[in-house]
Amino acid sequence: MAQILAVGIATLDIINSVAGYPSEDDEIRAVSQRLCRGGNTTNSLTVLSQLGHQCHWAGVLADEPDARHIEADLKRHQIDTTDVLRLTEGKVPTSYITHNLANGSRTIVHHRDLPEYPFSQFQQIDLKQFDWLHFEGRNVAETRQMLTWARQQAPGLPRSVEIEKDRDGIETLFKLADVLLFSRAFAQGRGQSGAASLLKAMQPQCGSTKLICAWGEAGAWALDGKQAFHSPAFPPPQLIDTLGAGDTFNAGLIDSLLSGLDLGAALESACRLAGQKCGHQGLDFYGRHSD
Ligand code: FRU
Repeated sequence: MAQILAVGIATLDIINSVAGYPSEDDEIRAVSQRLCRGGNTTNSLTVLSQLGHQCHWAGVLADEPDARHIEADLKRHQIDTTDVLRLTEGKVPTSYITHNLANGSRTIVHHRDLPEYPFSQFQQIDLKQFDWLHFEGRNVAETRQMLTWARQQAPGLPRSVEIEKDRDGIETLFKLADVLLFSRAFAQGRGQSGAASLLKAMQPQCGSTKLICAWGEAGAWALDGKQAFHSPAFPPPQLIDTLGAGDTFNAGLIDSLLSGLDLGAALESACRLAGQKCGHQGLDFYGRHSD
């Protein structure tokens, strides 16, 4: 069991499951609705906790009813919230999600009105207690400070960063991480039509960082120096729910690298876990969790 600290967001997800995706200006009924805690980092932690790790979340919560829902879910997954910054004002980020039952796709409209986790708060955490540090590549300036600080304070502590969306100056984070997890959306935004070409294009700016990019049904690619890896996807017999599949992939990769697998084997293991998740609704699909 490893101690994992992750910095990023928790959201309230309002998920409407529909029989087919609506057209613009349509009015349709949802088949069902559920409210869940979401957010990339806390989703990954939820999975890592089920894989048997002791997880710690560093993020921001507002003092309002939706935050209590989020906290209850984190508690249910035994995720430590000691390092959470609690604000008296604001509203936790909310995602309005249309889940298409016909193909498992998820379409997300996200709203937020809460500051990002600040470096000043991060500086107060004793990093020596952890075995892995994971960040969402969000607020670039603060994240850069946190990565630099972590490298100084705990040089041997592995640092992974998820690069999901393009943001001004995001490249300045690349060399500060040991592992970079790029998304398909990021690659496409950079005009790349595949994961392998994205990783090649990014490598000159990344030093010796291990580069990974998952590409849904095509599987995932990784690049470590001159060594390139690919794993196919492992789709479930029936595609039920893809919400959080990328976050599950990231959790699978961190877990595998922590347990000493090489990058090729870790990639395959992460693809298998993400595939398994897509065959289930929600993120409680593996081992340790209490309903
Ligand atoms: C899924 C997810 C949702 C959340 C949204 C935030 O990856 O984390 O749970 O609402 O993305 O961007």
